[in-house]
Formats: sequence, C-alpha cells, structure tokens
Amino acid sequence: MPPSDHPAGPGPASADPAGSTPVVGTPTALSVSAGPNTSGPLTADSPANGEPLLVATGVRKTYRAGRGLGGRSRVHAVDGVDLTVSAGETLGVVGESGCGKSTLARLLVGLERPDSGQVRYAGLDVGTARGVRRRELRRAVQMVFQDPVASLNPRMPILDVVAEPLDVHRLARGATARRDRVAELLEMVGLSPDMMRRFPHEFSGGQRQRIGIARALATEPRVVVCDEPVSALDVSVQAQVVNLLAELQQRLGIALVFIAHDLGVVRHVSHRVAVMYLGRLAELGPAATVYQDPAHPYTRALLGSVPVRHPRERGRERIVLAGDPPSPVDPPSGCRFHTRCPIAQDVCGRDAPALLVPESDTPTAAGQRLAACHFAGTP
Ligand SMILES: Nc1ncnc2c1ncn2[C@@H]1O[C@H](COP(=O)(O)OP(=O)(O)O)[C@@H](O)[C@H]1O
Ligand code: SF4
Ligand SMILES: [Mg+2]
Repeated sequence: MPPSDHPAGPGPASADPAGSTPVVGTPTALSVSAGPNTSGPLTADSPANGEPLLVATGVRKTYRAGRGLGGRSRVHAVDGVDLTVSAGETLGVVGESGCGKSTLARLLVGLERPDSGQVRYAGLDVGTARGVRRRELRRAVQMVFQDPVASLNPRMPILDVVAEPLDVHRLARGATARRDRVAELLEMVGLSPDMMRRFPHEFSGGQRQRIGIARALATEPRVVVCDEPVSALDVSVQAQVVNLLAELQQRLGIALVFIAHDLGVVRHVSHRVAVMYLGRLAELGPAATVYQDPAHPYTRALLGSVPVRHPRERGRERIVLAGDPPSPVDPPSGCRFHTRCPIAQDVCGRDAPALLVPESDTPTAAGQRLAACHFAGTP
C-alpha cells in the first residue's frame, strides 16, 4: 500500500477527519479547535509569555550578487529587521518570494551571521556564540525546512534520521533509549513508531514533513523556526501539517516562527504576524488586527483589499498586486513599496518610513501593531 499523508498512528493530527481535511488558503476552513491566538493580550513587541526568547535588533544581511550585475553589487536580502519571538507564541512571517524570509530564518537560528545588527537567544549572540554555548543554541533553536528529509541520505532509515540530533547532543543513552525516544517523537507528530525502519523515499510529502518536525523536536527546543514548511505540500495536506504545528506549539509551549508566502496559511495559527517586503518589515502586529484592519498598503494588497486610487478604476473594489517586486540588488529609494503602491505620494520615493504605531490606531487588548508607511491606516 502506498504511504498516505494521513497519520498512521495515534497523534495530534489524527483529529483531522480523513477525507474532510480543511484547505489552507481558505483560512476560515482551517480547523484548529483551540487556536493559540486566544491565549491573551499580545503586542507588536512584547512577549506572549514572559521575556522574549529570540530578539533580532537591526539585522542586516547582504550577499554578493551574481556576475553580470556589476562586480560589487550586493543583494540586500534582509535590511534592518527588529523582531522578538517569545515562549508560547507563534509568529507568522509572510511576504513574496525573494523578500528575505529564508535569510531571516537562517539569521534567527544562527546558520548565517548578520552583516550588522544582532540576534540574541536568552542573552547569547546567536551569530557569534562558539563552543559549549553554540551547542546550547543549536539544541534550543531548531529549524524545519521545506522538505527536510529530501537532502538526507536516502539509505538512512527514519530511526537514524530522527535520532541524529539525539546522537549529536548525546541525549539518549543506549540503543533502547534511542529507539524509545524516536518512537515517542514519531507518535508526537502522528506517525506510527512501526515506520522507523523505513526509508525516506517510502514516505509521502506530508509524512516527510512530519518526520522533519519530529527531528527538530528531538532536542526539546524552545524555539522552532519553520521555513515554508507546507509550501511544497498538496493543498489537501497543508492544513494537517499546519494544525499539527499549532497543536505542538500549544502542547509544548515552544516559540514557533512560521514562514509562508501566503497570509492565508498562517492566519489561524499565528498570535502575531510580520509582513516582509524587500528585506524590511512592512507591518508587524497581533494577527487579529493585521488581518481585520491591515494598516500597510502592501498587507492590504496581500489580503486583496487595496484601495483604488484612480477615478477610472473606482467601482472595482479590489485590485491584485501587479508585477514582481523590484530587485533587491538595487531596491527603490525611500519606501521600497513605492513603485507598486496605489497610494504613493512624492515623499514616499524620498523618505523611508519608520516602523511605528499608526496614528489612527487606538490601543486594544490585543496589543499594538507597527507599520512602515507614511500614510499607515489611510483608507
Ligand atoms: N546565499 C545567497 N547568495 C546570494 N543571494 C542570495 C543567497 N540567499 C538568498 N539570496 C538572495 O537574497 C534575496 C532573499 O532571498 P530569500 O531569503 O531566500 O527570500 P525568500 O525566502 O523570501 O524567498 C533573494 O534575492 C535571493 O536571491
Ligand atoms: S510609505 Fe508611501 S509608498 Fe510606502 S506604503 Fe506608504 S503610501 Fe505606499
Ligand atoms: Mg524562502
């Protein structure tokens, strides 16, 4: 029988009734029974639960651009991002392809060092920690990739795939303890422990992502950064994996950074949402505020509700964001969104807007949001 994306054993995701899996992209259809975004007041920069675990301050990362783009050209992948991630919260990070989401993810987990700025985990500089401290960080801050098993040795059984972090961090003593822990982790992600002798190619995309999540959880991390964990999956399977991550986040009380290129995917699982555009944050705030009343024209565009500027276009309620984002090698001056913004004014091409609480916002129990727009909140 071919492997299925439905969980083979008891586990959190088995709550998804087979055959009636909700479809991600139609957010109201997602069935996260007790969504984590009900757990209390949150603000754009304050923790869900105590002190922030990860704190990014003014983080910048450039890469050398390819040949033919001028010898010294740099790609401005992440350009001055400030973020916090707290225990017990899910932070959704969204934006179009190429806006710097994966670079930010790698900076947050310490796989890359920022050119300037800093990422700190529990006070430790993630980019420069060495030795024992680096091992501590590696254990505490884990990453889930789009297809984490694809890059692994196809001859390695799932037992060894999931146990690898246990071996590296010496977290299981003896073969029995190792196997028991892998069984426990597989059950946690809704897979049967009987599957541990199988090989990666015997699993479907959804199952492979569950294995990747089990592997990331092996070290009992406090922060898990998931870089587009469902983008490569069939739509029918996406919601199962999203719901699994939401459930694990709640059950384990970890901080989850959930990256997606579509706001719909993270809607019901995020406490807060960060919207990125060309390496910068356009908007950051409590999910309910950002979705119900987006302040930045780019967020509105992503949500399909950008106001129409030209009289001849009045009557059409919605426009779709036109064209591709400009190149991050030579980003637009001032507000990076001004070349596509339907409400841009002259000032927008000159002055970069700071990420601030919009003037029209009134404080709510859900906390305050920030937007980088000279006319934030303007209808
Ligand atoms: N290692 C790299 N070398 C050169 N350019 C890179 C590298 N990684 C990312 N980039 C560039 O940085 C920009 C942001 O990329 P990325 O962080 O992958 O965005 P996203 O994940 O949002 O699609 C893109 O223009 C990409 O081509
Ligand atoms: S600053 Fe100007 S160009 Fe940028 S989003 Fe606001 S209105 Fe649009
Ligand atoms: Mg990416």
